[in-house]
Amino acid sequence: MKRNFLMGAAALASLATLSACGGGAGSDANAPAATETTAAAVEAPAAPAAPAAEAGATMEFASMTTDVAAGEKVFALCRSCHVLDDGVNRVGPSLYNVVGRKSGSVAGFSYSDANKNSGVTWTTDVLFKYLEDPKGFMPGTKMAFPGIKDAQDRANLVAYLESTKK
Ligand code: HEC
Repeated sequence: MKRNFLMGAAALASLATLSACGGGAGSDANAPAATETTAAAVEAPAAPAAPAAEAGATMEFASMTTDVAAGEKVFALCRSCHVLDDGVNRVGPSLYNVVGRKSGSVAGFSYSDANKNSGVTWTTDVLFKYLEDPKGFMPGTKMAFPGIKDAQDRANLVAYLESTKK
């Protein structure tokens, strides 16, 4: 995302450079300068690539644009263990009104100590982080799910969960 944005910005900058040079292209003396400037602008995207990838790792849910309908499809990954109906526990606890809920609070579900005592509240931001790597976020959880690495898929899913709040 960020990376595309940066590359897009670089491309725009390159276009701006071209048109700026085009404006002053009356004399032959300007021509070599225009070529040099353009070459520098084209190389530019290579440098920001690494910092952009690092920025992706610390992405916040609030900074993402989400798609609820796409998130509903991602929820297929959860359905084998969770349903959204109130009070219906499967392998995992009901995810009814999960956004804003205190962890370990569904009656009748036998939580691990890790989950029960985590003290976490499932805000959108916390869910976004947890679902990337549940066991990394909550060592000792018995949720056997490897996580969703794609930040966009995860953000869409969290937005979907939020949309189901009653
Ligand atoms: C293989 C079964 C399984 C899958 C798949 C699964 N979960 Fe879970 N989930 C669990 C179990 C079991 C727990 C209880 C963990 C514990 O007590 O340590 C849990 C707990 C949770 C909790 C904490 C609930 C609470 O009340 O504290 C959330 C939130 C959650 N899962 C969301 C999800 C989402 C969203 C997905 C899909 C991306 C998903 N889970 C996929 C089994 C699963």
